[in-house]
Amino acid sequence: MSTYVVTGAASGIGLVTTEILTGRGHRVLGVDLAGSDIDADLSTAAGRASMVEDVRERTDGRIDAIIACAGLSSPTVATVRVNYYGAIATLEGLRPLLAGSPAPRAVAVASMASLFPPDEELLSLLLDGTEDDAVARAAELAADERAGQIYGTSKRGLALWVRRQAATPEWAGAGIPLNAVAPGIIETPMVTDLIATDEAKAALLQTVPMPLNGIAKPEVVGNLIAWLTGEENTHLCGQVVFVDGGSDAVLRGAST
Ligand code: NAI
Repeated sequence: MSTYVVTGAASGIGLVTTEILTGRGHRVLGVDLAGSDIDADLSTAAGRASMVEDVRERTDGRIDAIIACAGLSSPTVATVRVNYYGAIATLEGLRPLLAGSPAPRAVAVASMASLFPPDEELLSLLLDGTEDDAVARAAELAADERAGQIYGTSKRGLALWVRRQAATPEWAGAGIPLNAVAPGIIETPMVTDLIATDEAKAALLQTVPMPLNGIAKPEVVGNLIAWLTGEENTHLCGQVVFVDGGSDAVLRGAST
């Protein structure tokens, strides 16, 4: 039995992943704003710190896997704070607790939206600037028609962060496979409004083509995350695994 920490565990992909893992006999500590084991607001520094402390206390400082799933899709600064800084604080803050595990693992949940053209200024602030500066840039975008770029840019940043970090001494060097998953459209409360009618669904699938089996259930992502964080995954490292019914192949087929 392994001990997992799953953020965003009260809903959607995080909830279903938790159910898959507990169904296999693992212990899962769920983190969410409310309705899970640990209440924490990952949009704030205080919430991130209290989450790490809470996990440490409940596990005697020893866990086996981190799944950073909590996220928002609203075109607001909160999306940058949760999707990028909250995810990174989760991964970095909990990494020391993996040290005693025989099979430590970590996954971040990015998105196929990371393929959409980012706001380059926000992206470079995410990767090399401060949270305050990135949030200020996101506030500028949120004020006009560029607001729609915030979500995809936050996920592009997260995917690139995983690519940059995975092979470092702190992760691969410590025996920890760090990867990301990039889901296509997944039937969860996050997209309920976007797929409420056949017309809306068809319009969304124009932007996010999913030729293989269309819109997916959260189990599809949960099963992939379970494998990436399981003992069998000894060498998959620094990958952004698209589980998107073919969106990546359609939109970016020319690159490998
Ligand atoms: P969801 O809305 O069902 O679940 C997201 C969870 O994150 C919620 O329980 C929410 O309370 C939690 N959360 C939000 N802000 C938080 C905060 N400040 N602190 C702590 N927890 C917070 O959505 P879903 O679809 O399960 O999303 C999970 C992840 O998958 C997100 O990162 C999302 O961006 C990503 N994703 C979802 C896709 C979809 O089509 N549903 C597609 C691609 C990526």
